[in-house]
Amino acid sequence: MTSDPVPHPGASPAPLPVSAAAPRLRESLASTGSFYDEIGGHETFVKLVDVFYAGVAADPVLKPMYPEEDLGPAKVRLTTFLEQYWGGPTTYSEQRGHPRLRMRHAPYKVNPDARDRWLAHMRAGVDSLDLAPLHEATLWDYLERAAHSLINTFEE
Ligand code: HEM
Repeated sequence: MTSDPVPHPGASPAPLPVSAAAPRLRESLASTGSFYDEIGGHETFVKLVDVFYAGVAADPVLKPMYPEEDLGPAKVRLTTFLEQYWGGPTTYSEQRGHPRLRMRHAPYKVNPDARDRWLAHMRAGVDSLDLAPLHEATLWDYLERAAHSLINTFEE
């Protein structure tokens, strides 16, 4: 499977006929009302991923999976991916192309233990954001479903 593991909210049809609007207006319509903006934009995603990677750096199962000693570039990839997914800038695809997350996780042993660890560090990240309950539930629901969908082995 090469598509996103979970349907992409940024890709759903705009509620207004945005394509018919003048370019200026189109720009402003496209940049308002996204989940990305609602939860605080770039700063929020940077914080989420910073807290997450602090957990990964101390995790004896996850840390060895990361190919680079410096987690900085991996942080940028995850941040830009999540920002794009939630309707923010499309930097991820400009730099990395189509996400193809299942394919990109194929080299790693993503078993239930790895998933649970990944989710535990993400939980700490989400908790650090102090989001409104509905935003928090929306974000968490996605992260859980995405993590479940990336399991690629049940080997210990
Ligand atoms: C389920 C447990 C997971 C494990 C163990 C895991 C592990 C990894 C590892 C080891 C990498 C390589 C680091 C790098 O070079 O960037 C990676 C990359 C990445 N992961 Fe995960 N991951 C998991 C779940 C997820 C989920 C749920 C998402 C999305 C919501 C995600 C999004 C990404 C992205 C965007 C990249 C960078 C892809 C690229 O452009 O190369 N991962 N992951």
